[in-house]
Amino acid sequence: MIKDTFNRPVKDLRISVTDRCNFRCPYCMPADLYGEKYTFLPKSDILDFEEVSRLVNIFEGLGVEKVRLTGGEPLMRENVEKLVSMLSGIDGIKDIALTTNGYILHKKAKALKKAGLSRLTISLDSLDDEVFKKLNGREYSVDIVLKAIDKAVKAGFDPLKINAVIQKGINDHTIVDLARHFRGTGHIVRFIEFMDVGTINSWNFEHVVPAGEILGMIDAVFPLEPVEKNYPGEVANRYRYKDGKGEIGIIASVTKPFCGNCTRLRLSTDGRLFTCLFASRGTDIRKPLRDGASDNEIREIIAHTWSNRTDRYSEERTTDKPSKISAKKIEMYQIGG
Ligand code: GTP
Ligand code: 5AD
Ligand code: SF4
Ligand code: SF4
Repeated sequence: MIKDTFNRPVKDLRISVTDRCNFRCPYCMPADLYGEKYTFLPKSDILDFEEVSRLVNIFEGLGVEKVRLTGGEPLMRENVEKLVSMLSGIDGIKDIALTTNGYILHKKAKALKKAGLSRLTISLDSLDDEVFKKLNGREYSVDIVLKAIDKAVKAGFDPLKINAVIQKGINDHTIVDLARHFRGTGHIVRFIEFMDVGTINSWNFEHVVPAGEILGMIDAVFPLEPVEKNYPGEVANRYRYKDGKGEIGIIASVTKPFCGNCTRLRLSTDGRLFTCLFASRGTDIRKPLRDGASDNEIREIIAHTWSNRTDRYSEERTTDKPSKISAKKIEMYQIGG
């Protein structure tokens, strides 16, 4: 097992399988910047399934146990279930999860289950149709996602996690409705503090609703009590309803960063390794892969990248100064959150 300069092992690999998305969330891929003419990565730049699968085998040997498929929108990658089935055949990978916006999930849920996907997380920032239409940038109705959730449950993904990024003045008035809707269903809503990922979202601290406030709003209506984390390094703080109707999570990446336990490594669609969500540079692994490097040589590159890692961006973020590296940060849709 490899450790970085802060003695953190690598355990989770997050793989972005496409940079495309069918949504245009203003904080990630605003419609005016990502219009019809925007060129996404050409096919030749994108790792194919054999390449990804070979890499995951190598990562497994270095300590990776969990894989999460992300995007862009991972379900837009043609035949993504084939990749899931290839990865589920790798010994030592105990958990394969996928984060989706849910828009085409109704078509894919069954196939993903059959391919061996362990868990599904659905991004849903609000149940209010007007708010949701603005938030997805395409005027899509929330019903589409709610129907996909039903389909996913029928396919055997139960419980689900529902991720809601909270932005002050945009969807914070709909927090309690989200909690109410999913209470008693077994699904776990995780409320996420809005972060300064990428360069597009004009983030500042005033857009953040601190975890304590989110907790207070829900607790005032449905009393909550804290629960231990499921595993060390879990990003969400867990709370359960005192009346036994399930649990929620709050991800306080801004007000209570969790870099000390960060065991996550990210692989971009075009085969670069990023050791932090806020990194500006990645390590190209596609070139050696395509130039005929052996597994050992690739393992060396990954091990070297991880063992030199010093990232603790969220802990270093200051309240009043824009980050030094903010001008060059990788975008969310290239790295998948
Ligand atoms: P589980 O395996 O179900 O515990 O998944 P997870 O919660 O680790 O993954 P998910 O992608 O659902 O994470 C939820 C959100 O937490 C992401 O959308 C990010 O906003 C945030 N997040 C996840 N990982 C990191 C990280 O390494 N750093 C920071 N700053 N935020 C993260
Ligand atoms: N802050 C926090 N979470 C974000 N996500 C996208 N942008 C941000 C941000 N600025 C979340 C999405 C999705 C996951 C992939 O990352 O809502 O749940
Ligand atoms: Fe697509 Fe997710 Fe970005 Fe929204 S946040 S545009 S759903 S990749
Ligand atoms: Fe890990 Fe970087 Fe997130 Fe900190 S900010 S938890 S180092 S990915």
